Amino acid sequence: MANDQVDRTVVSQGPARAAGQATARVTQLPATDPTGEAAQVAESLQATLVELIDLSLHAKQAHWNLVGPSFKPIHLLLDELTDQYRDWYDEVAERLAAIGVSADGRIATVSAGTPLEPLPAGQLRDQDVLAFFDARVTLVADRVRARLDPIGAHDLLSQHLLLSIVLGLDDQCLTLGAYRSGST
Ligand SMILES: [Fe+2]
Repeated sequence: MANDQVDRTVVSQGPARAAGQATARVTQLPATDPTGEAAQVAESLQATLVELIDLSLHAKQAHWNLVGPSFKPIHLLLDELTDQYRDWYDEVAERLAAIGVSADGRIATVSAGTPLEPLPAGQLRDQDVLAFFDARVTLVADRVRARLDPIGAHDLLSQHLLLSIVLGLDDQCLTLGAYRSGST
């Protein structure tokens, strides 16, 4: 074991173990600390990860608290959106791993880093939910779109991933607009 790992070894703080029972040990692995081009790529991917996780949480919150005459189709639509956000943020997190950087999807990180305004607590009217999502999905699409050129200068595969997410978010905006206008 490397010296820097030995120094960070933490012994479990749980109840005392019976005599002879192995003590659980948790080893703090070295933090990934990208520099240069990898740091710039990682920053864009991590920001996108946070935004997509928060969008998925928004979609479930709205799915559970939706009310109104269009409950059924929008209830189902919100789960479709959730599935897409989960697929996308999983790909983003795994791209971070592929470039040697640890993804940070902890709720405290998401809460501190998200640009999205929280949804109101309690019941949410169907037309309000469509407006909330139209605004939030448009915001995230624009933020990810702005990362395409900078990330493409360093990593074409990450750019390709973010491009596919922008296309998906734009498609969600079209769908939300169609629901808002009553054309679905
Ligand atoms: Fe459900």
